[in-house]
Amino acid sequence: MADLSVDFVGIKAPNPFWLASAPPTDKAYNVERAFREGWGGVVWKTLGEDPPVVNVSGPRYGAIHGPDRRVIGFNNIELITDRPLEVNLREIKEVKRRWPDRAMVVSLMVPCEEASWKAILKRVEETEADGIELNFGCPHGMSERGMGSAVGQVPDYVEMVARWCKTHTRMPVIVKLTPNITDVRKPAEAARRGGADAVSLINTINSIMGVDLDRMAPAPNTDGKGTHGGMCGPAVKPIALNMVAEIARFPATRGLPISGIGGIETWRDAAEFMALGAGTVQVCTAAMVYGFRIVHEMMTGLEAFMDERGYARLGDFVGAAVPNVTDWQYLNLDYAVKARIDQDLCIKCGRCHIACEDTSHQAITATKDGVRHFEVIDEECVGCNLCASVCPIEGCITMEPLVNAVDRRTGRFVDGSYRNWTQHPNNPRAQVAAE
Ligand SMILES: Cc1cc2nc3c(=O)[nH]c(=O)nc-3n(C[C@H](O)[C@H](O)[C@H](O)COP(=O)(O)O)c2cc1C
Ligand code: SF4
Ligand code: SF4
Repeated sequence: MADLSVDFVGIKAPNPFWLASAPPTDKAYNVERAFREGWGGVVWKTLGEDPPVVNVSGPRYGAIHGPDRRVIGFNNIELITDRPLEVNLREIKEVKRRWPDRAMVVSLMVPCEEASWKAILKRVEETEADGIELNFGCPHGMSERGMGSAVGQVPDYVEMVARWCKTHTRMPVIVKLTPNITDVRKPAEAARRGGADAVSLINTINSIMGVDLDRMAPAPNTDGKGTHGGMCGPAVKPIALNMVAEIARFPATRGLPISGIGGIETWRDAAEFMALGAGTVQVCTAAMVYGFRIVHEMMTGLEAFMDERGYARLGDFVGAAVPNVTDWQYLNLDYAVKARIDQDLCIKCGRCHIACEDTSHQAITATKDGVRHFEVIDEECVGCNLCASVCPIEGCITMEPLVNAVDRRTGRFVDGSYRNWTQHPNNPRAQVAAE
């Protein structure tokens, strides 16, 4: 049976599934319920200085639903913990004592002054927690007070605070990054310069979930007024995966340990983050929507996947997909695929035809001999994948590579050769280089 245990920057846990800093980790009651279900660790809901913040008493969450009411995107305008520091610290200490094998990381956010960080670090150390996570990501409320993403968006501040923390604590320091930035590699690089042991990402994405057209105000709203919140859940996963991959492959951040966060609901989501370089993963929305028991599927699914592939431990596949993430200019322009429709699976709905006909390459028939029939016209198909993306039947349309065959669209013989844009004769710069 595959070994799921992790040693992430010295923080040990029985598995890589940690709850992200958020309501699921706001108090001992929740965290102990989570540990009983099997979660490998938690990042405690962000602590700040006393007096505690005050949350709105109106709706603080919003959601985007799929047609089946599945939560696809989730958003919040919640602040950091609104419980007194002393209460949180006492509970952290008690829970860590009762669950010594689980990872206990404490998320922190205090004003951007060295004395504030020094003071809280000392108090967190006394809890015997395993590490700290610096919340440089929260994009609402706290950022307007000069904390959260207001720090995370300025690489120099990220570096400065990371350095303060490394100076004033022996605990491992994880820097949690905001996605509300043009190039996530810059704060990651700054975190490394400041001595951070790892980065975690992503925190939530700035968003307005909708507009209440009766009240002419953002939805949800508090007494008729709304504000931007942080979006998370399955819809943000692609953004998070790209940011994780960017950090994993950028020379200045390559090798920096990563805790992957954003839209993880299943073992497969987690495995994808790990394949792109995440050593652990963190989950918030899925736990809030489905409860703590989802970790069972995550553990058994990941174990089964690893057993099937012969991976004895997580390290055997963490980062395995990173070498295959490249820049567009290095994609093989000699490679070609054609769409193929499985006539036995096709329900003749016509969506592939209309998508290709109206917006792509007019490469799918609608009729044959006067009856509805959907078939790919190889002379026109560019292999773009639009039809497969819109087909309601999974596996009905596949993209088949041409091997040792003539591409009937271009007349070119596809022989498995490799030529990217930097080498292509249509690239004037490539010609100059060749001469
Ligand atoms: C209601 C709510 C509260 C959150 N509070 C915090 C917080 O206090 N500190 C923090 O670092 N992140 C906070 N987050 C962000 C999550 O930790 C996580 O980064 C984000 O939700 C993406 O993960 P997910 O898609 O699994 O939810 C919060 C998220 C939600 C939904
Ligand atoms: S792959 Fe693109 S071009 Fe080919 S049939 Fe599908 S939609 Fe049309
Ligand atoms: S979208 Fe799929 S099911 Fe519908 S006609 Fe095309 S191949 Fe058939």
